[in-house]
Amino acid sequence: MGSRSPAGVAAELDGLAIADEYRRFARYQARGHSPSYEALSFGVAGDERLLALLHTLPPIKRQPNLLLAAARHLGAPVDAADRFLDWVVANWERVRSLVLTRRTQTNESARCATLLPLLAALPQPLALIEVGASAGLCLYPDRYRYRYDRGEEFGPTGSPVTLPCRTSGPVPTPRQLPEVVWRAGVDLNPLDPADPEDAGWLESLVWPEQTEWLERLRGALGVARTEPAHLVRGDLNETVRQLVAQVPDGATPVVFHSAVLAYLDPQARAQFTRTVRDLPCHWISNEAPGVFPELLDKLPEPAPADRAAFVLALDEQPVAFTGPHGERLDWFAGHGPEEG
Ligand SMILES: C[S@@+](CC[C@H](N)C(=O)[O-])C[C@H]1O[C@@H](n2cnc3c(N)ncnc32)[C@H](O)[C@@H]1O
Repeated sequence: MGSRSPAGVAAELDGLAIADEYRRFARYQARGHSPSYEALSFGVAGDERLLALLHTLPPIKRQPNLLLAAARHLGAPVDAADRFLDWVVANWERVRSLVLTRRTQTNESARCATLLPLLAALPQPLALIEVGASAGLCLYPDRYRYRYDRGEEFGPTGSPVTLPCRTSGPVPTPRQLPEVVWRAGVDLNPLDPADPEDAGWLESLVWPEQTEWLERLRGALGVARTEPAHLVRGDLNETVRQLVAQVPDGATPVVFHSAVLAYLDPQARAQFTRTVRDLPCHWISNEAPGVFPELLDKLPEPAPADRAAFVLALDEQPVAFTGPHGERLDWFAGHGPEEG
């Protein structure tokens, strides 16, 4: 039996890690939300050709969401795993080029349903600063309608976006929508809601069966086009201080982020924590549990093991677990603003 080269062994180990990532994505993220993505991700995990091609990409570019969105954007069939896999192999150079150009910038306005109880409880009016804003669709919590499972639907009449949200625990029901006088954001690559290319990419990031999500995205893009936010290009650590300094007099500055800090390495996250702690602002964080390990000790209960959940925190105090796409809000007893 011939011995394998170190590069061959490394590729094989890499392939196992990539396969594991795709299986986990299939099991814990796609399952129950996108049967086709579940099947395609399991398909990728079991296909030597795809694993070898993914191995040629930088690690950050191997994510299931990115590959699946890029292939779909270019017209890959998603109704059968075999056909999808053959299509990706045959069109690899185009897929590779799009994967290297684009990022997973999924912009989910529905996350506003999980942020709203905190935003509504702060001294009004608000100046919102979102770091990792993508196209800025989470900067319009006052322009969407809300349908929490306990209570009446509310929000501006005629809004093209209604956000349903399942709840548990003593969620502080907002008495009124927040008053937002300034909307600003930073992103490494801000997307322009008015640019058809950017809007098209955002649509490709929506999972195939999620027609409500697609409608929501289109509605939110329309809202953002009507009332453009002040979005700047840059790294959040280098920009957040300047943005807070620009907040109009009389407004409460709120720095917030969701599904962003996981993209930073631990040193950059620690730098962000130090910076924001020193700024005259409130800080709302909505991120996966391991992103800020210091928050784990403050959780009143362990994060759910059977589904993906984010930790919602105000000024470093966890108040709830949230659905990663804003679909649920599980408030901790005795945490955060008083029930309204
Ligand atoms: C998954 S998207 C989430 C977008 C939005 N926060 C939401 O909840 O819908 C993550 C965004 O963070 C941005 N991002 C990642 N690292 C960043 C950094 N160091 N500085 C600024 N933006 C960053 C990405 O470009 C991307 O648009």
